[in-house]
Amino acid sequence: MTSSAASLKFFAPALLQWHESQNDRMLPWKGQKDPYKIWLSEIILQQTRVAQGIPYYQAFITKYPTIHNLSEAPDDEVFRLWQGLGYYNRCRNMLHTARYISRELKGVFPNQYEDILKLKGVGAYTAAAIASFAFNQPAAVVDGNVIRVLARIFGQEEPSDSAAGISYFRNLADALLSKKHSAAYNQAIMDFGATLCTPKLAKCNECPFQSKCYAYKHNSIDLLPFKAKKNTLKQRYFTYIALVCKQQLWLQQRLEKDIWQGLYQPYLLESAKPLSPKQLIEQLRQFNSNITLGTLAPVYKSTQKLSHQQINATFYTISVEDPTNQSFSAGKWVAFNDLKKIAFPKTVLSFLEKNFYF
Ligand code: ADE
Repeated sequence: MTSSAASLKFFAPALLQWHESQNDRMLPWKGQKDPYKIWLSEIILQQTRVAQGIPYYQAFITKYPTIHNLSEAPDDEVFRLWQGLGYYNRCRNMLHTARYISRELKGVFPNQYEDILKLKGVGAYTAAAIASFAFNQPAAVVDGNVIRVLARIFGQEEPSDSAAGISYFRNLADALLSKKHSAAYNQAIMDFGATLCTPKLAKCNECPFQSKCYAYKHNSIDLLPFKAKKNTLKQRYFTYIALVCKQQLWLQQRLEKDIWQGLYQPYLLESAKPLSPKQLIEQLRQFNSNITLGTLAPVYKSTQKLSHQQINATFYTISVEDPTNQSFSAGKWVAFNDLKKIAFPKTVLSFLEKNFYF
């Protein structure tokens, strides 16, 4: 698809007009000019729905009103506040960047797109959002939502997950951007994708682009954007054994470079398929041959979908008589009363909340 500059001209003014007159989406960071707060909101919104992110954003700016406050906070406290948002690398990178800006850059946030992009945890989308919202730099945001809007309105020839497709949408987004009003334009296209040009049940009757829209004309709203690859979810099976002794729970920190790095969890057996009762007993015996198993029945089950994998968790509870057994040296016993101070993956937290500890 080749789009001449002239054929693109209608887009930005109409989008900005829609933004001014119709867009009533209220977001706590809207109109914000403080790069720290914009950065914080954008980090929270990576891989997180806006409705879920709002209370976290508010909690963070209340507790840490400046980048200096955040940079001085202990890791555990920040992880605790992040709990429930998932993708904990975001939190780790956020802390790293807060400390870098506060200490190395004397608290001055970089104001050029290229420099913002170099910050840890900041990709092209986040850099464009910060550069435009805080510094009015002409950088267009491009993510799945923007691609959906552009694919529908302008049509699409290459899959949006191919190199050619990505490059097409990047170029198109740059050509469409209002260089003068990049902040309003970027916020407008984000909100337009979230409220009108939605993945399902798009509100075409309220859309200012209806008469120009390629997908509307060709009755292909639900077919665009198209991708080459099917999304396959890797299935992982987590069998958790909550080992309990004298009002304490045995916990281990996840140290591997994997999901939930740095968070705490009960004893875990991971497998590619659900464990049979026999396998479960054998593996527990290998861990600690002194544990009394009694009747093993799951007390809680959950599934959690992440971007490329699904975690199928099953929880058991076992009482332990000898907490000093050397098999427990790789973790620690934590009093039930202290569990509130610890950061857990959402799946584990739900189990703990539903099963008597909180
Ligand atoms: N998604 C990512 N950043 C956003 C923002 N600033 N407003 C609304 N949705 C967003």
